[in-house]
Amino acid sequence: MTTAAASHLLPVFARVDLSFESGEGAWLFGSDGGRYLDFTSGVAVNALGHCHPHLVAALQAQAAKLWHVSNLFKSPDGERLAARLCEQSFADFAFFANSGAEAVECAVKVVRRYHAGRGNPERYRIVTFEGAFHGRTLAMLAATGSKKYLEGYGPPADGFDQVPLDDIEAVKKAIGPETAGILIEPLQGEGGVREPPPAFFRALRQLCDERGLLLVFDEVQTGMGRTGDLFAYRRIGVAPDVMSLAKALGGGFPIGACLATAEAASGMTPGSHGSTFGGNPLAVAAAHAVLDVMLAPGFFERTRRMSLLLKQKLASVVDRYPDVLSEVRGEGLLIGLKAVVPSGDLVSALREEKLLTVGAGENVVRLLPPLIIGEAEINEAAQRLERACVRLSGASANREAAQ
Ligand SMILES: Cc1ncc(COP(=O)(O)O)c(C=O)c1O
Repeated sequence: MTTAAASHLLPVFARVDLSFESGEGAWLFGSDGGRYLDFTSGVAVNALGHCHPHLVAALQAQAAKLWHVSNLFKSPDGERLAARLCEQSFADFAFFANSGAEAVECAVKVVRRYHAGRGNPERYRIVTFEGAFHGRTLAMLAATGSKKYLEGYGPPADGFDQVPLDDIEAVKKAIGPETAGILIEPLQGEGGVREPPPAFFRALRQLCDERGLLLVFDEVQTGMGRTGDLFAYRRIGVAPDVMSLAKALGGGFPIGACLATAEAASGMTPGSHGSTFGGNPLAVAAAHAVLDVMLAPGFFERTRRMSLLLKQKLASVVDRYPDVLSEVRGEGLLIGLKAVVPSGDLVSALREEKLLTVGAGENVVRLLPPLIIGEAEINEAAQRLERACVRLSGASANREAAQ
């Protein structure tokens, strides 16, 4: 070590000065003694809240049996997890990775190999969309296309053509003889909770079918119940050929997945892709436990009910504080509050009220409560939001006087 540093963690995150000792359901218990209502869910990861008893039991049981064997050997639990995901989706095959970026990267590789396997290796380019976020590997940075994230890393990886969201003419123009597929999030989370209309997805599907392209949905954030169904594409009514999952798939244990139809996956042969940890027994056990809970009857109906309630409560606060908030957007429990004040100020004010939220693009604050959130907690969150708005609103005193 050459210089004295306060922390030895690589300083790539602008962390707030807050840490936690434990969590239960939608609540986090801070080292400062505070009890925080967690509407971040670890950025859409802890979909079943903290320390869900079924997940804890599943992971403890697996930890006492087997942690890791590698992909040199068969994985009966991994087979079963792949089968469950395929049964619930359009897909025939699943590949397990360890993160969202890896899952999307696998999707891009599947698309490129599909065309290579059909004798068209020159078809490798992928159309992506402005405002996207696909992760931080060098290829996923290029797919994301954000100048801010690419800066200082040399030339962006080749093969991605970015166009504006919800502009089908721009997509058509971007498609050339080298185009292999289209990659899109059903709802942009990091980009500011932006959702193109279903008609745009139908048009993309049609275009892919006409031009022999593969359609890839990045459901790393929207998947596993976040938008009110197991996968967002089921709500939109347009199925992709390939889909990436991660975040909530392991309920807090790292696991990603790339799902594909047999046709789309036709180029993937032994040795064409791999991962040491991918499909690790602990991760697979966690994902099975998540599916057990989510696939129980009524789970998503309840999520949608809570979504409606939360949106109603939020809309009422937005109406009363137009100098702080301007809009509620999003689906299921991937909700965005478009702020009039700087979104960072709102996140800080909410944190002071012990309500934890996440920033996003377009000056939006994301509310990502666990899918197991209850009515009382939604009411509590609305009250905390209101208190934060009172503090941020220049006209709060006048408003109170008028009431
Ligand atoms: C849509 C989407 N894709 C990919 C990623 C990258 O996931 P990870 O951070 O696990 O690599 C994210 C992360 O926020 C995401 O929201």
